[in-house]
Amino acid sequence: MRQYLKHDEWRIIEEGFNPDYQRASESIFSLGNGKMGQRANFEETYSGSTLQGSYIAGVYYPDKTRVGWWKNGYPEYFAKVLNSPNYIGINVEIEGEQLDLFKCKTEGFVRTLDMQKGILSREFKATLNNGKQVKVDATRFLSMSEPECAFIRYAVTPLNFTGQLAFEPYIDGDVENEDSNYDEKFWNILTTNSKNGEGELLVQTKKLDFRVAYAMNWDINTRNHKVSSSHNAARTSNRVEVKASENETIIFDKFIGVTSSLNHQNEQLISKAQQRALQAKTVGFDKMLKIQINHWATIWEHSDIKIEGDVAAQQGIRFNIFQLNQTYTGDDERLNVGPKGFTGEKYGGTTYWDTEAYCIPFFLATAPQHVTRNLLVYRYKHLQKAIENAEKLGFTGGAALYPMVTINGEECHNEWEITFEEIHRNGAIAFAIYNYIRHTGDEKYLEEYGLEVLIAIARFWAQRANWSGEKQKYVILGVTGPNEYENNINNNWYTNKMAVWCMTYAAKALKIVETMNPSRYQAILENINFKYAEETAKWAEICEQMHFPFNKNLNIFMQQDGFMDKEQMMADDLPASTRPINQHWSWDRILRSCFIKQADTLQGIYVFEDEFDTDTIRRHFDFYEPRTVHESSLSPCVHVVLAARLGKQDKAYDLYLRTSRLDLDDYNNEVHEGLHITSMAGTWMSIVEGFGGKRVKDGKLHLNPIIPQQWKSYAFMVVFRGNYLEVKVSQDNIEIISHAKNEATLMVYNEKVTVKPSESVTLSLKPTYYA
Ligand code: BGC
Repeated sequence: MRQYLKHDEWRIIEEGFNPDYQRASESIFSLGNGKMGQRANFEETYSGSTLQGSYIAGVYYPDKTRVGWWKNGYPEYFAKVLNSPNYIGINVEIEGEQLDLFKCKTEGFVRTLDMQKGILSREFKATLNNGKQVKVDATRFLSMSEPECAFIRYAVTPLNFTGQLAFEPYIDGDVENEDSNYDEKFWNILTTNSKNGEGELLVQTKKLDFRVAYAMNWDINTRNHKVSSSHNAARTSNRVEVKASENETIIFDKFIGVTSSLNHQNEQLISKAQQRALQAKTVGFDKMLKIQINHWATIWEHSDIKIEGDVAAQQGIRFNIFQLNQTYTGDDERLNVGPKGFTGEKYGGTTYWDTEAYCIPFFLATAPQHVTRNLLVYRYKHLQKAIENAEKLGFTGGAALYPMVTINGEECHNEWEITFEEIHRNGAIAFAIYNYIRHTGDEKYLEEYGLEVLIAIARFWAQRANWSGEKQKYVILGVTGPNEYENNINNNWYTNKMAVWCMTYAAKALKIVETMNPSRYQAILENINFKYAEETAKWAEICEQMHFPFNKNLNIFMQQDGFMDKEQMMADDLPASTRPINQHWSWDRILRSCFIKQADTLQGIYVFEDEFDTDTIRRHFDFYEPRTVHESSLSPCVHVVLAARLGKQDKAYDLYLRTSRLDLDDYNNEVHEGLHITSMAGTWMSIVEGFGGKRVKDGKLHLNPIIPQQWKSYAFMVVFRGNYLEVKVSQDNIEIISHAKNEATLMVYNEKVTVKPSESVTLSLKPTYYA
C-alpha cells in the first residue's frame, strides 16, 4: 500500500516529483477517450524508469503463445492491444541542454488529473545542470468529442535568463511491448514524412495488417522562431527554436490526428489524420478544451456519485467512474473493456467475463441503452467463433464456449485449468442478456440476437454435464470456479447453478420469441437445426436433477465437492507477512488451502439473491467471507453488496474503501502495471447496489438505501427504462429527484413511490432496514 496522492473531490494530485513513483503515476494519471488511450508519460525526454504506453482500441497483435507443455486446444496466440507510436513527445532544450526531470532539480512539481474536465496537467520549476531555471506548465487531453484528436499545450517560462529554447515535437514509431513473448517488435513502419509545421507516420501491425496513421501540427505564441524538420525510418519531427526573454512564457501547442484502418480506407489514412490535426489546430486548444469540459459535464450528469463527509471515498469513486467512461464510450460494437483499459500491457487489452459480470451493471444504470447493447452485440458477433472454440474441445451440435480471454472471438488464454475449465464465463454472458432485458425492457433483443447466444450456451451446458450413476444426479466435473485458487474441481456450486439457470432461461427465451415473432422464431430454429422437443427435454432433465454440493451440518452450499476436507483456516489468522498469499506461497500450497481468491459461492448468492432468504444469505456470508483473501480486485465489491444487504455496515464500508482506492492507494503493490479498470465497475456496484440497495425485480426499480455512518450523505444517478433519477441519501432521508420526461414509479423499501417529471419525493431513511 502506498499513499502519496492528495485527497481532493475532483482531482488526483501528486505533489513533489519522486522518480520511484513514476511508473505508478503513469498508470494512475492515464487518459483515454474510448478510441485511444495512453499512460501519463511525460512529453519531454525522461531518462528514468518509465513504461511508455499508448494504445489504439481494437488494434492488436496475435503474439505467438509461449508455453512449457503444449496441450491440444490451446490457442496459437495471445492477442495484445499494442503499445503504439508515441505521439505526445515534445523534447525541450534549454540553452542547449535537454530538459529531463530525471537529471535536473525539480521544485513545486504538481501533477493533476482533473476528472471533472478530462484533462491532465503538470507544473514544475526545473533547474538544469547548466544553471538555467524554467517554469513549465503542460496540459493535455484526448478529445472525447473528436476521438481521433489529441491536444497538448506546453508552456515554458525562463526564470533566470534570456536565451534559446527549442521544442522538438515528434512522433516515434520505434516502440515495443514490454510483454512481447519473443522480444519482437509488432509494427512495420510504412511511411514517415515531415515538413515545417507538420509530420506524419504510417504504421502497420505485423501479421494482421492493421494500419494507423499519425499526423501532427503545432502552433507557438511568438513569430520570432526558426523551424526545421526531419524524419528517418521510424520517426518524424520538427524543431522550433525560439529566443525567449526572462519571464516571457512561450506557449507551444501540439495537435495530433490519429486514424486507423478500423475506421478508414487504407489510402485515406494519412490524409484523414492530417485533416484531423489541421482541424484541431484551426479550432484551437482553448475552444476544444471548452468542448472537452462540456462533454465530461454531460457524462458526469448521468454517472456521478457524490459523497459528503469523506473526501477519500469521494475521490475514489469518481476516479473509478472517470476511468470507466474514458475506457469505453459504447458507440462501437467491435470494442470492449479490457481489465486494464488503456493503462498498461497486462491482460493485453482483451475481453474477460469481467465485462458482463461487472461492467454491464454499471453501464446499464448510468449510460444510454445502446452502450450496453453494443457490449452484448460484441458477443453475438463472436458466436460462430465460440461454437468453433467448443468444437475444438469436442463439443458438437452448435454448442458454444465463449473464450476466457479474447479480442476477436478466438480464445487467447493458455492455461488448461482456465482455458478449458473456467467455463462459468459462459453463464455471465447469458446472464448479461437477461440483465439487459430486465433493466431496459428491450425484449426484442432476444429475437434479434439474444436467443441464438442463449441456445448455443445452453447446448454447451447440456453436453458438459454428465449423469453420475454414483450420485444419481447430473454433475459438472473438472472445472475452475471464479475462485482461481482451486482448479480442476468437481461440482463448483456457482458453475452448476449458472448452468441450470442458463438452460432454464434459454427455454423461457424460446417461448418469448415464439410468441413475439413466430416467423423469426422458426427461422432461427431452422438455421441452427434446433430439435425443440429433444433438446429442451434434456435441459429440463438436467436442471431438475443437478447436483449441488451441500453441507447438512453447516446448512450451506459447499463451494465444490470435498471443500470441507480441506484444513479450515481463517484469512485473519494469516500473518500479514504472508499476504497476499499469491506473492508468498507456492501455487501448490495455495491450491491445497481453503483460502478463496475471490467471491465464488457468494458470487452466486449475489446473482441469484432473490432465491435466498436473509438467514440463508447470512449463513453463507459468515462462512465464506472469513476464508476469502480478496486477491482478485473483482472480489470485495460482491462482499460489500451482500454485507450491506445483511446490515453489516462496518464490514461493507471497510471493503468498499478497499475497492474504491485499490489503485489510488496501490493496495496490491501492482499499480505500476496499470489500473484495475473492470473492477472499478464493482466499486460503483458497492455504492449503488450495496448502500443504495438498487435492484430490478419484476420490471420495477427497487431501492433499499442505508448509509455508512462515516458519510453525511451520498447521491447517485440511475437510468431505468429511459428515466434518469437522482437518489440522495442522508443520515435521515432519501430524496428522489426526477430528471425524467415521464412520471417514474419505483419501489423504495418495497413501497411504491411515484415521482413526477422534474419533481422530487422525500422519504425517511430506514437505516436498519436489513439489520
Ligand atoms: C480474476 C478473473 C478475472 C481476471 C481479469 C483474474 O485475476 O481471477 O476473475 O477475469 O483476473 O480481471
